[in-house]
Amino acid sequence: MHDAPNIVLIGPMGAGKSSLGRRLAERFDLQFVDLDAHIEKDTGVSIPMIFEQEGEQGFRDREQLSLSRALEGEGRLIATGGGVVLREANRLRIRERGFAILLRISVDEQLRRLARDRKRPLLQVPDREQRLKELADQREPLYREVADVVFEADSRSVPESLQRLIPLIRARWVPQGAMG
Ligand code: S3P
Repeated sequence: MHDAPNIVLIGPMGAGKSSLGRRLAERFDLQFVDLDAHIEKDTGVSIPMIFEQEGEQGFRDREQLSLSRALEGEGRLIATGGGVVLREANRLRIRERGFAILLRISVDEQLRRLARDRKRPLLQVPDREQRLKELADQREPLYREVADVVFEADSRSVPESLQRLIPLIRARWVPQGAMG
């Protein structure tokens, strides 16, 4: 049993962190925090605009701050952006304050799910497949370093993933303090 104050969803773009996160939060009576949405609300501008104005490092600074604030609380389910694991400070913080679930999907499935996406700054390249492969190679070990649970979300619909994730979380996680 893992006792942590929060649940954190990590994993690549398109893995379903936001859509599954919202529903899991409801099921476990947790406050849902979507980090990217939070950053957009805080700054009043979109993620692509932040990338454009401040570069990726500027976005990562905001992301780090936003994650750290979200994790200070408890009883939250936090959906992160795919690059949150890049900074060591974030990885440590997630491990300290969260029960981390890695949602895995293949590059092929990412390509399918994100085919119509024109917003994600890191996908504004001619060869998306190549980009996604590079990101996966770079990030997979970092996701693994943080993950308490690895969940294969690849070929699963949202309802099916939920059906599997709910008992898995029940079996592995209790909110901090609840173990007595
Ligand atoms: C990013 C993923 C995005 C968003 C930003 C950068 C990444 O979030 O944070 O575009 O580095 O993989 P999603 O994983 O929700 O798409």
